[in-house]
Amino acid sequence: MSTPFSPRILVFDSGIGGLGVVQALRSLAPSLTIDYLADTALFPYGEQPDDVLQERIVELISQACEELNPSLVIIACNTASTLALPILRERLTLPIVGCVPPIRWAGRVSTTRTIGLLATSATARRPYLKQLHEDFAADCQLLVHGSRHLANMAERAFRGEQLDPAEVQQELACLLQQPGGNRIDTVGLGCTHYTFLMPYFQRLGPTGIMWLDPAPAVAQQALRRLGDSVEAPPAADLSAPSDRFYLTAPPSEGQDLASHIAWLGFTNGWQVFPYRARSTV
Ligand code: DGL
Repeated sequence: MSTPFSPRILVFDSGIGGLGVVQALRSLAPSLTIDYLADTALFPYGEQPDDVLQERIVELISQACEELNPSLVIIACNTASTLALPILRERLTLPIVGCVPPIRWAGRVSTTRTIGLLATSATARRPYLKQLHEDFAADCQLLVHGSRHLANMAERAFRGEQLDPAEVQQELACLLQQPGGNRIDTVGLGCTHYTFLMPYFQRLGPTGIMWLDPAPAVAQQALRRLGDSVEAPPAADLSAPSDRFYLTAPPSEGQDLASHIAWLGFTNGWQVFPYRARSTV
């Protein structure tokens, strides 16, 4: 798909997870300008209470839209989307594309009718997930592992650390060794971070499993929405800054984040987003 001009979009996650969607966007629409915002101050989202998370996401995305003025926002985080998509769509007028566990896709392709999902513990317990199962794969047995560790392991893999295979296998066992787990033929990635663990899953998981990563489909959906909703500006705005990478808290000392995001087009390093916590008085 090609777009006749270069709009700016905002991709949001708690950490590096949304970069799998960015990667897909880069190959589909190289001229797109992307701002990335990672709420690293509150990572991991999967371990936060729902009320804290919901208020935070709505405030942060609202401020980011004011500050960065995107044409479209991608909530490239299942934990955030399954909690805050409806309220974000109510509050903001621009198009918002979310990211939800690929239950519908798994239901379409599974032949054994037993599907697996790897997700954060927050996504695993959400009513949103139950609803997806009922609506789109009710005839499948759904087994879920809500992991406390995989997102952090993905952060480490993204920064080039070699993970211990036993550590990954232990997480996979939590899904595959559940009763009925030997019938799973399809596993959906219900957390965007796991894109960066896919090579481990494919190498260390049982043969014959189909691993479903929704990142390319989310990127395609965003480009479709962008095409539907944005009017071409009269002339290119040459003063607009190029792709920017924001964090809400700086990386720990010794983490050379800048070198790991440059290959995704963020060649100007990272900066801290000027988030203003809402005053409660
Ligand atoms: N990347 C996020 C998701 O898709 C969550 C990771 C976290 O726990 O912060 O769910």
